[in-house]
Amino acid sequence: MKILLVHDSVYGNTEKLAKVIAGAIQPSGEVRVLRAKDAAELGSIDLLIVGSPTQGGRPTPAIREFLNKIPANALQHTGVAAFDTRLAGFFVKLFGFAAGRIAASLEARGGHLVAQPEG
Ligand SMILES: Cc1cc2nc3c(=O)[nH]c(=O)nc-3n(C[C@H](O)[C@H](O)[C@H](O)COP(=O)(O)O)c2cc1C
Repeated sequence: MKILLVHDSVYGNTEKLAKVIAGAIQPSGEVRVLRAKDAAELGSIDLLIVGSPTQGGRPTPAIREFLNKIPANALQHTGVAAFDTRLAGFFVKLFGFAAGRIAASLEARGGHLVAQPEG
């Protein structure tokens, strides 16, 4: 299985998590880990995982740009999953989190959600 994990990270938390996830799923196939700014072409992949810090309740601009560049229906034959890092606390919940928005965007491009969005 070909797996691409695309992430962004400003302070390093999401990058650390991306590496842990990539290590954990390594036995399932060939895993490539890319920063969103370096992820130009999706290529032929079976699973796309996207992770972002939550900023103002949503993914970072680099992740949003990456998602917006994925053509309509490009993920029709691709499993997708999303994760974020976030603050704990009641008030941040009011703004929502990045993972759900990433997952919705991936599904809107035809992706098949293989796991619930996680923070
Ligand atoms: C400008 C900014 C806005 C943030 N907005 C939110 C937010 O809306 N909700 C939340 O849960 N965390 C928010 N955070 C906290 C980050 O999501 C959290 O610290 C994250 O782990 C940072 O990831 P990184 O180290 O990969 O950059 C914000 C952090 C910054 C710097």
